[in-house]
Amino acid sequence: MLNVKTTFPEGFLWGGATAANQVEGAWDIGGKGLSVADVYSFDENLPKDRWSDQWLMMTHNQVKEAQDPSVEKFYPKRHGVDFYHHYKEDIALFAEMGFKCYRMSIAWTRIFPNGDELEPNEEGLAFYDRVFDELRKYNIEPIVTISHYEMPLHLSTEYGGWVNRKLVEFYVRYANVVVNRYKDKVKYWMTFNEINSLNHHPFTSLGVVEENHPHIEQAKYQGAHHQFVASALATKACKESNPEAKVGCMISYQLLVPYSCDPDDVQATIQKQRNALFFSDVQVRGYYPAYTARMLADKNVVLETEPGDEQIMRDYPVDYVSFSYYMSSAVSAHPEKLEGAVGNVLIGGIKNPYLSASEWGWQIDPKGLRTALNQLYDRYQKPLFISENGLGAIDVVQEGDVIDDEYRIDYLREHIKQIKEAVIDGVDVFGYTSWGCIDIVSASTSQVTKRYGFIYVDQDDMNKGTKRRVKKKSFHWYRNVITTNGEELE
Ligand code: BG6
Repeated sequence: MLNVKTTFPEGFLWGGATAANQVEGAWDIGGKGLSVADVYSFDENLPKDRWSDQWLMMTHNQVKEAQDPSVEKFYPKRHGVDFYHHYKEDIALFAEMGFKCYRMSIAWTRIFPNGDELEPNEEGLAFYDRVFDELRKYNIEPIVTISHYEMPLHLSTEYGGWVNRKLVEFYVRYANVVVNRYKDKVKYWMTFNEINSLNHHPFTSLGVVEENHPHIEQAKYQGAHHQFVASALATKACKESNPEAKVGCMISYQLLVPYSCDPDDVQATIQKQRNALFFSDVQVRGYYPAYTARMLADKNVVLETEPGDEQIMRDYPVDYVSFSYYMSSAVSAHPEKLEGAVGNVLIGGIKNPYLSASEWGWQIDPKGLRTALNQLYDRYQKPLFISENGLGAIDVVQEGDVIDDEYRIDYLREHIKQIKEAVIDGVDVFGYTSWGCIDIVSASTSQVTKRYGFIYVDQDDMNKGTKRRVKKKSFHWYRNVITTNGEELE
């Protein structure tokens, strides 16, 4: 009756992931409008162990400058790696690796350039028809994020972003258009990328400029409430257009462990972990968890809701839980006492002395992925999908176009081993998409040289280069992983 699973399930969705704003480029082609991603300028002096200040807190001045053609700054996400013109070649390479699926996003600004139009832009819709058709040609299942850090800039500058209830209407109109248009081509959807990231970079996720909000926590949680309602309405639209469709939430999951067994460290860890799990708690269960009242009261947040919000959230929870996993970090209730332990393990975590880190200071913890999978499955009992995981590193092209990225293979191998452990533990995980399967522009640093891909793109941080695609050593390795359904990892 109770059989231990020993292999990845049949039909496991192996693949890769990207986002429109980081790959497509063609920012001013096909009627596309400016998105919030298009206003991040490149800072060549940014130290590796930090997120850019702009990523954490965009200012009015920076947004204004980005719209002024006389300002000579470089905006990498406008150029991506030109997937817009290379998609056929790129998808053929994904197919050569044997991808079963490709997680991608639709740029909202290709469909509704400003976000508040009543009618969609046909040229943008036609582009994604071509992309989905190309994927289908190779039997690659598209897994589509409706909004991945690329909301229309206009909705930020004119409406103040997601704090404004009107954003629900705009997003739902957009979601309705895409789920109906592609109902025969797309089965798996995600409503918002890393919805919990609005805690850390509210401009990208919510279009909120902090200068406008002395009480930023209020703005963040009000924006989150609007996204929860919008996500439920998008799920409804999706189910109505195709009852077979599956809609997932997507959170950024950073495993947090107490720095010590001090009960204060343990409590601090639980509180901090809720910064991520609060969002999936709501989207999976369809209601605010019991700890919400105290959590919001502690932050002095009072949510404005409308009649019907509660019901729609209850009626349309998500079907599956997807998450990104790159690293873990430790949590201390008294970080000021721990000299040298505080680094950019993001979100103010503490260095874990048992772990090594990437060149960008992201602590590598493959076993943490097994814990994450078990924790999420114990909590929700819903199918899980690992929508991002990977190593950002500098790659060197040697003579004969050889790129020996053994470090990336090591990272991926160790993580995939732990996914298998979780499968044996009994966790229902149905897919894995390695992040940045082709080199892309980094979200947090806007670099291309922080490379994640199996496919190298000959392009530097300033968009110079031929954009030629070159297969790395990991390309061949991953193809074998897929062919053997995760059995051969060496
Ligand atoms: C995730 C995002 O947080 O991490 C991606 O969903 C992002 O958009 C990825 O690219 C890796 O982060 P970075 O900053 O190295 O690009």
